[in-house]
Parts: sequence; structure tokens; C-alpha cells
Amino acid sequence: MATRGQFTTRIGAIAATVGSAVGLGNIWRFPYETGVHGGAAFIFIYLLCVLVMGIPVIVAEFVVGRRTHKNVCGALREMAPGRKFHWFSAVCIVASILIISFYSVVCGWILEYLFQAISGGLAGTSDYSKLFGDFVSSPYRGVMWTVLFLFANYLVLKRGLKRGIERMANVMMPLLFVLLVVFCVNSLMQPGAIEGIKFMFSPDFSAITPHVAIGAMGQAFFSLSLGLSCLLTYSSYFKDSDSLVKNAVSVALLDTMVAVLAGVMIFPAVFSYGMTPEAGPKLIFEVLPAIFGQMPGGYVLAILFFFLLFMASITSTISMSEISIAYFSEELKLNRNKASLLNTVIAMVLGTLCALSFGVMSDFKIFGMTLFDLFDYMSSNILLPLGGIFFSVLVGWVVDKKIVADELSNHGKLKVGVLKPLRFCLRYVAPFTIVLVFLYGLGVFEFLK
Ligand code: TRP
Repeated sequence: MATRGQFTTRIGAIAATVGSAVGLGNIWRFPYETGVHGGAAFIFIYLLCVLVMGIPVIVAEFVVGRRTHKNVCGALREMAPGRKFHWFSAVCIVASILIISFYSVVCGWILEYLFQAISGGLAGTSDYSKLFGDFVSSPYRGVMWTVLFLFANYLVLKRGLKRGIERMANVMMPLLFVLLVVFCVNSLMQPGAIEGIKFMFSPDFSAITPHVAIGAMGQAFFSLSLGLSCLLTYSSYFKDSDSLVKNAVSVALLDTMVAVLAGVMIFPAVFSYGMTPEAGPKLIFEVLPAIFGQMPGGYVLAILFFFLLFMASITSTISMSEISIAYFSEELKLNRNKASLLNTVIAMVLGTLCALSFGVMSDFKIFGMTLFDLFDYMSSNILLPLGGIFFSVLVGWVVDKKIVADELSNHGKLKVGVLKPLRFCLRYVAPFTIVLVFLYGLGVFEFLK
């Protein structure tokens, strides 16, 4: 067998995997969802989802990846011989490229804002919704930043697993944590900050409708990078001595911690400056820049904030790209550079189309959605939950339970006390709840509204 890359250290492996999980999902979406959907009650439901389906499905992907040390296609061939499951690798690759395409448009906005923050453009305006509107609808600026972001993504990918991915994660993840804590402290020190904390943490169970609960499950999936063999691919680079259960729990804990901290970083400041927390997606591009504009030290804070977002997002797009790069290099036998290039070119073409859907292509609609929305909808609402069902059924029902136990215990060297509950979640709880998410994504529960 050709020698295959491995993460050098366990810390490196966890940093990279947390880097994948921590992204726009945590810093952009989670705080806003929490804010409008019942505060602590939403967080409670979210934690439950992470526990009963998030962690089990992470473990499922880890078992398949680390057992085989292969890309998704090779891994499925080996784990389920004779079952012709490799069609599923096509689902993973297509879905991951769709996600990169719309995700990198938002990453492009982050780069533009970073640029504006540095060049003084952000400080020089007072109408932030006009700034945002003008920018996203301009015919070329969104495209330019999307392409630039994907190029940066490529530069890391082509350096390979250790010198590119692992090294970047080892630097960026600790830095991201430090910055996040600095922002939380700063936010908490603003006058009236306590209102933001109350807003975020006071439980309002009446705000929890079935819609919100199922939305929380979908959010857990996206935030943990589940269902599309992203974690399978990373775990195929884990060492045989790593404890898969410990790694899975660490990743889930750190990812959730970052999401909650992101809320603490945002809401106290939002309340302190008399802004509305329900701004949703606009929170980060319109509300926060306005706040930085009034804060002492706002110039530097704005730069650091968009830099933090940049680090969170590039470690995620790298992990999405690695799914197809591992496939291209191991199944199609392309070298690392060519595989990265192929991934980048496809993402640039589709990403450009997504970026244009805020401008010249805003009238181009399929099923009533722009390309940006369509890619988001298809991947997040359909392909992701399908993938989650696939992995929980594969490891819960198809793969021999002795193999699962053997892999989780590192061939009997570790004691795994949670095998039974884990298997129960994988066989029953996860598939059932994910089917709910899936039907919800298709709009089957519209009548509950
Ligand atoms: N988890 C990342 C976020 O929260 C996004 C992400 C990275 C992802 N890799 C993925 C989502 C694979 C689904 C599948 O932003």
C-alpha cells in the first residue's frame, strides 16, 4: 500500500477536526438562532442533539475512517464489501462541493470586510446596511473575493496534510480561542451587558416549537461537519493509538463551547449599544460593524473580529475540500497539487455563480431559489441528513459490532464503557431523529406552523 499521510500529533488531529467543526455555523448562525428561539431553552435542546446524535454519528464516521485509513469511496468498499455503497461517495463529494461553493461566498464577504476594516472603509460610513447591500450586489466584488478566498484555500491544501492542514490548525485554533475570549471579556465590560446575557441564557420554553427543535438538530449536524464524510476523511489520518471516543467528545465539546462563547461575544455588545438582536444573518455584517464604529478601540476590534471569522471559516472549507481531494488522489491517482487544483477550479466556477446570485443573477431561480439558496438548501436540508442516516445505519446495523468494538477499543487496548448506549443511539435514536430533520427540511411539517 502506498504510504499515506497521518496527523503528526493527537493535538494536531484534534485541532484540525475542531477547525473543521468550528466555522460560520458557530459564529454566524448559532448565536442568532439562540437569540430568537428561546435562549437557554434552545441551548438545552441543542446540547441534547449533540449528545444523542451528534457524538454517536461523529464516532460512526471516525470508526469507518480510522479503520480503513482511506478516502470515503475506498473506506466504504472496505467496510461494506459487496454492498455497492460507493454511490454514496458521489453524494458526499457533490454535497461537499456545493457547500464550499456557497460557503466561500460568505467567506468572500468576510475578506471584503477585513479589507474594509483595515483600509478604514468600515469606520468611514454610518449606513451599514447600504454598505452591505452595495457590496453584495456589485457585479464583480463578491466574485473577486470569493475567488481570492478559494485561492487561499488552495494554497493551504496543496501544501498537504502536515505542512498545510495540521500546521495551519495548530496556529489558528489556539489563536481563535484567545481572540474569542478577548472579545467576550470586552463585550461583558460594556455598560448594560447583563441584558445580553439575560437574553441569551434565560430559558423560554414557550419559544420552542417543533420547528425550532428540528432546526436545532439540523444546526447540530452542520456545525459538527457531520454526514458528508468530512470527519471520516480527517479520521482516516488519525493514528491507531488515538482514542476515537475521546476525540469525538473533545471535538463536540469544543465546537459547542465556541458556539456559546460566540453568543457571549455578540449579545451583550448588541444590547449595550441598543441594537436589535433579531437581525439574523445581518448581525455580523451590519450590526456588529456599527457597534465597532462606536466602541473605543473599534478600528482594531473590527480587524480582529473579521480575522477571527476568516480563521474559523478557512479551517472549515479546507476540511470540506479534503473529502474530494482524498478521493481524487487515491481513486483517480492525481497528485496532491492536481487534486487540490481540480477541487479549487470546480469550487471557483460554482462559487462565482453563487456570488452572482446576489447581483446580476438574482433573477435566475430554480425551484424558486437563487443558486446560493438552492445549494444551501440541497446540501443542508437534504444531503446532510441523508448522510447522517447513512452513517448511523452503516455503523449501527451493517458493520459487525465486533469490528466497531475492536476499533473503538484500539484492538482491546482501551476500555470503552459507552459501547452499549452509543450503539443504541446509532441504531435507533439517531436515524429516527435524523429522519425527522430530513422530512422537516422537505417541508413535510409545514402544517405545524
Ligand atoms: N462545521 C462547519 C461550520 O460550522 C461547516 C462544515 C465544515 C461542514 N465541513 C463540513 C458542514 C462538512 C457539513 C459537512 O461552519
